[in-house]
Amino acid sequence: MKRKPSYCANDLADINTPLLYNYWYVIGLASEITRNLKERTILNRSLVIYRDEEGGVVVLQNRCAHRSFPLAESTLEEGGIRCKYHGIKYDHDGNITDVPCQENCPRTGIKKYAAKEIGPMVWVWMGNLSDAIEEKIPELPVHDMDKWTHVVGPYNHLEGSYILMQENLCDLSHLPFLHAETFKFPQEYTTAPIKVEQDGDQITFYRELEDWNLLRPFFHPNLDFGKKKVIYKSGGRYESPSTNKGYGLLIPIDENGLEQPEVGHYVSHYVTPETESSTHYFWFIARNYELSDINYSKKQGDMVQAGFEEDLFAIRHLQRIIENDTHTYREIGIKADKPGVMMRKIIKKLSEE
Ligand code: FES
Ligand SMILES: [Fe+2]
Repeated sequence: MKRKPSYCANDLADINTPLLYNYWYVIGLASEITRNLKERTILNRSLVIYRDEEGGVVVLQNRCAHRSFPLAESTLEEGGIRCKYHGIKYDHDGNITDVPCQENCPRTGIKKYAAKEIGPMVWVWMGNLSDAIEEKIPELPVHDMDKWTHVVGPYNHLEGSYILMQENLCDLSHLPFLHAETFKFPQEYTTAPIKVEQDGDQITFYRELEDWNLLRPFFHPNLDFGKKKVIYKSGGRYESPSTNKGYGLLIPIDENGLEQPEVGHYVSHYVTPETESSTHYFWFIARNYELSDINYSKKQGDMVQAGFEEDLFAIRHLQRIIENDTHTYREIGIKADKPGVMMRKIIKKLSEE
């Protein structure tokens, strides 16, 4: 990518910041990965993805070691892929197991990547295979498929940097404006103070409203707390360069002023750089009430996807302006930027390490 002029403070990540390889990223929805070969570029590396005979996910370099033919355009056979160009065969680990015109097989195969399927998402480790530690996959309580109803969003392609999307996900102040037509946040939401905490390389942020009825349209019509006071807490957590977790929770308060178990939703967002200027975006929403209302799940999923398309629209335009406009320019900051600015500092620091 051609380097664009800097448009922000030096200690903040921007669209020019080098990509981070030693992390787990979502490579695809579990439902997208089958016995058909699929190509997807992650962090500028073309990958071929498929399931082996046992259903396990295989991720390999999508480039034949002989003359660069894409293996995703080749043939999946029992035991591996046979290149469509001159017929070299690779096993599920990327080793060459057959060269049709000769007896011996070259020792140099293709790169294999570690992959792990968890709930509706499939993860890939973009660093060296030997450094892949599954415990480092961002852990979300809502991966527990039994206690939550999951609505899994469709695959989304974003024509913009993942940094812009991560900042959007850390940003509670755009909700009443960019999403005015879809999410319909009340005026009161705009001015509620935003609380922010940093914990190592992670950022937690939220704001609260004392009257949950203002947020009624977000919740199932059957929800009823009688005269009980219920706090609405809206926020998120930047977990890693690949992961951001949003939530909207209702917290009932009992007669003694104690908080009761929360009711609500978590939205898990996964941003995976395709290149410096394009991103794969995956999401699912999990709720812990009205678990079996399928019609409501459909309605909720459509509403959330419509809102996220507004984010994709905004970021596509930010990327276009940042890349092409020639004004002398430096971003200004406002109070509500804090979580996103902290996230950008963390990513900038990681990119320099
Ligand atoms: S390019 Fe794959 S076998 Fe020649
Ligand atoms: Fe948004």
